Amino acid sequence: MTDTSTPTLLIVIASVREGRFGAEFGSWVADRARRHNGFHVEVVDLADIELPLALPASSPKIAGSDYPRPAGMAPLTRALERADAILLVTPEYNHSYPASLKAAIDWHFTQWAARPVAFASYGGAAGGRHAALHLENVLVELHAVPLRDSVALVNYFTAWSDGAPTDPGTEVAITATLDRLAWWAPALRNAREAAPYPG
Ligand SMILES: Cc1cc2nc3c(=O)[nH]c(=O)nc-3n(C[C@H](O)[C@H](O)[C@H](O)COP(=O)(O)O)c2cc1C
Repeated sequence: MTDTSTPTLLIVIASVREGRFGAEFGSWVADRARRHNGFHVEVVDLADIELPLALPASSPKIAGSDYPRPAGMAPLTRALERADAILLVTPEYNHSYPASLKAAIDWHFTQWAARPVAFASYGGAAGGRHAALHLENVLVELHAVPLRDSVALVNYFTAWSDGAPTDPGTEVAITATLDRLAWWAPALRNAREAAPYPG
């Protein structure tokens, strides 16, 4: 049976750096997602999540629901499990994405599978695109579905004023990204509900 309930969009704020810009950009992204009206929106800020770098002996792919995660990671794990679509708000650190986000990815496996993922990246001249390109490559290993559309805030320090981007193209990009996520989210949810993902 087709599930017509509003899909859940999880927005993950990846930077945990002191004095980070990510929380402000993430807040704008979440506001646009709520205004889009196509989702039930949840936000997880990795700064609030217990994310040790030392992983257990087994892999989450093999251990499944028995994977021993710290109690302080539960809000992230539960939010990933509820998510029908995921939007990662990420900076670019040394031409990639931050270690906090890699840890959040590596502590999970099935939670990413058969879910559409898009990016709202930011940085200098490349607008965080190096981070997004690396994420696309990593996420396919977890059977996630990275989307073509994304937001890239170029030179965010001059492209941002009073809590919003100055370039109207950023609004166009977030709308396109949310529209595509809104198409994929129920399509993949119905597919997951029709048959367990074989991954
Ligand atoms: C360790 C580190 C490496 C960085 N490397 C890059 C980079 O390769 N490309 C880029 O555009 N910006 C780079 N930056 C600048 C970040 O885009 C900028 O500091 C941004 O504010 C980081 O996001 P955050 O404030 O949310 O942590 C780097 C920043 C840090 C802290």
